[in-house]
Amino acid sequence: MENNSITEIQKIVLAENGPYLLEGKFVFVNHEGVETVKEGKVALCRCGHSTNKPFCDGTHRRTEWKA
Ligand code: FES
Repeated sequence: MENNSITEIQKIVLAENGPYLLEGKFVFVNHEGVETVKEGKVALCRCGHSTNKPFCDGTHRRTEWKA
């Protein structure tokens, strides 16, 4: 993995009744230690209904889930 130091403050927006919205460069590490780098805009599931966790797949719009 590259340098893990935090050099900038990152912002996480909680969408109304929707996902966590992140923007920047992130390294996601799964339970087996496999790393995936994402850069740009990322939406993380907050409702628990996504079939593509940890990412939001829009399922929250079809549920009664409220933040
Ligand atoms: S927040 Fe979008 S599917 Fe969960």
